[in-house]
Amino acid sequence: MCGIVGYIGSNRAYDILIQGLKRLEYRGYDSAGVALVDCDGKLKIHKSQGKVSNLESIASGANVEGHLGIAHTRWATHGEPNDINAHPHVSQSGMIALVHNGTIENYAVLKKVLMEHGYEFKSETDTEVLVQLIEYIKLTSSCTLLEAVREALLQVEGAYAIAVVEQNDPDTLIVARKSSPLVIGVGENETFIASDATPIVGYTDQVIYLKDNEIGVIRRGEPVQVLSMFNNEPSTINIQKLKLSLAQLEKGGYDTFMLKEIFEQPSTLRDCLRGRIVDNCRRVTLSGVDLNQERFKTAERITLVACGTSWHAALIGKRLIQDFCKMPVEVEYASEFRYGNPVLNEKDIVISISQSGETADTLAAIELAKAKGAFVYGICNVVGASIPRTTDSGTYIHVGPEIGVASTKAFTGQVTVLTLLALSVGQLRGAIDDATLHEVLAALDKIPETIEEALKVDPEVKKLSRIFSYAHNFLYLGRGYNYPTALEGALKLKEISYIHAEGYPAAEMKHGPIALIDHDMPSVIIAPSDSLYDKIISNVQQVKSRGGAVVAIVSKGNKAMNDIADFCIEIPEVPECLTPLVASIPLQLLAYYIAVNKGKDVDQPRNLAKSVTVE
Ligand code: F6R
Repeated sequence: MCGIVGYIGSNRAYDILIQGLKRLEYRGYDSAGVALVDCDGKLKIHKSQGKVSNLESIASGANVEGHLGIAHTRWATHGEPNDINAHPHVSQSGMIALVHNGTIENYAVLKKVLMEHGYEFKSETDTEVLVQLIEYIKLTSSCTLLEAVREALLQVEGAYAIAVVEQNDPDTLIVARKSSPLVIGVGENETFIASDATPIVGYTDQVIYLKDNEIGVIRRGEPVQVLSMFNNEPSTINIQKLKLSLAQLEKGGYDTFMLKEIFEQPSTLRDCLRGRIVDNCRRVTLSGVDLNQERFKTAERITLVACGTSWHAALIGKRLIQDFCKMPVEVEYASEFRYGNPVLNEKDIVISISQSGETADTLAAIELAKAKGAFVYGICNVVGASIPRTTDSGTYIHVGPEIGVASTKAFTGQVTVLTLLALSVGQLRGAIDDATLHEVLAALDKIPETIEEALKVDPEVKKLSRIFSYAHNFLYLGRGYNYPTALEGALKLKEISYIHAEGYPAAEMKHGPIALIDHDMPSVIIAPSDSLYDKIISNVQQVKSRGGAVVAIVSKGNKAMNDIADFCIEIPEVPECLTPLVASIPLQLLAYYIAVNKGKDVDQPRNLAKSVTVE
C-alpha cells in the first residue's frame, strides 16, 4: 500500500529511484513521483498519474540530475489518483519534499489549524498536511529539519513511513516510521531507503529495519543514525544481512510474475518444507512450536486471524487443527476481530497469517490479542516484516518474494505450514495416531512432486479458459476442506479478470444462490474423491438440472464425473486434508488464463495493492 524509496550517494539518484519504484509497484500503481535535490541546491519534482512508466515518459528530457532523492508509488487513500494528489508533496515555500506510506488520521484537524496560519493546500491528501506542518514548525521554532520532523510526528496520529528532503541540504535524508515498514540499505558511501528490501537488492545486502517510533538520519558520508522519536536518544542499530537475490525479483522467462509464481510452487513448497519433516516422516519440527511446547500443550483454544487469501488459508487451517489436534478453533477476519471485543486469556493462542507481514488489520489484531494475554504466533512470508517482529513466535513460509498482486504461492505455502503446525501440535497433545501422522507426512513430503504433476493440466485449462472468458458471473463450490478452496478460486478470478464470482459451500447453494443458475452462469465444483464425494455429486446434479455448465475438479482416474459435468480437470490423488493444495492449482490457472484472454493486467489488477497497510 504505497511504496517509498530514497537514495543518497554518488550515483544519479533518479535511475536508482525509478528502478526501486518498479520493484515496489506491486504496493500500488495509481500514481508515481520523484523529488531530486540537485548539487546546486534545487529541488526538482516530477510526478504523474498512473504507473511508473508514465512518470518516466513525463520526466524524459527533463533535468533529473542529483545524488539525493525520494520517490513514491501510490495506492490512493485520500483523494483520487491524479497528478496533484501524487507524491512527493512539497511545503508551501517549495523547500521541503516528503513521501509517505500510511494514513494521517488527524489530518483534518491539523489542516484546519495550518489554514488558519495562512497555509494553502493544493491536494486532497493527508500527506500534504504533514509536509506543511513540518515547514510550519521549522519556521516558527527556527529549528532544524530533523527537529521539525520529530516535533510534527509527535502531533500526528496514524500510520506512516516517511522520507523527507530539503532543497538547500543536498546531504541529508530523514526517514521515520510508525506502523508502516521502512528498511535502510547501507552501502559503500551510499544509503538506500525503501518500504521493503526489493529496491535495495543488488546494491547492498546490509540492512537496518527501522522500528516503530524511530527516526533515521542519513547524512552523506556519515554512518546512519537512528533516534527514538520520543526522547531523541540514539537507538541501538542492528545491521542485518539480506537474504534476497535479484533472480527472485525477475520474471525468469514467464510473461508475468503471477504465472512464474504459479509454476514455481513445486520449488517454493520444497523450500517451505525443507528440514521440517523428520524421522522418516514420523515427526515435524517447527522451531516456533518446539520452543513453545508447553503453550501449545495447554492451550484451550486457537483463533486464526487473517485477511483475504490468508483468511482462506486460515479456514483450511481450522479444519486441519480440529482434525489433528482435536481442540476448539475459530477463524476471524482480522478487521472484524480487532473491533469485536474478543474474549481471550493466557490459555488462548492466536495465529496470525499474512504473506506481507504488514497488513494493518492483522497487525492491529495481533496487538489486541497480545494485550489480552494470548500467545500470538505468526505465519508470514516476508522475512523481517512487522508481523514476525511483533508476534511472540512463529514460522516463515519461505516461498520467496511474491510480486504478482494475486496471491498464489503464498497461499499454498501458508496451507503447507498450517498442515505442519496442526500435525506437530496434534502429536504434542497426543491427539493424532501414528498411522495418520505418518500417512499425511509422507504425502506432504511428496507434495512438491505432486504439485508438479498437477501443473500438467496447464494446456487443458488454457483451452478451457477460452470457452469461459465470456461469462459475467461464476459460482465456485466445494465442501469440507475444499469450501475454502472454492472461496480462493472465486477470489482469484474476481481479482484479476473482474468477473463476478462467488465461492460457496456446495450444500448451501440450494439455500439461495441456486436461483442464480442458468446457462450463462458456469459453476466450478471441487469434487475430489474424498469423504464428501457422494454428497457433492448431488450438488453437481442440482446445478446441471438447472441448465448450468459445470467444470469439475476431480481426482485422477475419476471417469464417472465425465457423464455428469461438462468438463473435468483431473488432479493427483492425495489424503483429503491435502486436497486444497492440489485443487487450487487448476483454479489459479483458470483465473489466470481467463484474465489474460480478457486482456487484463494480471500482475497489477485495478484498485488493488499487494500490501494493505491501511484499515
Ligand atoms: C489475494 C490477496 C489478498 C491478500 C490480503 C492479505 O490474492 O493477495 O487478499 O491475501 O490482502 O494480505 P497478507 O497475506 O499480506 O496479510
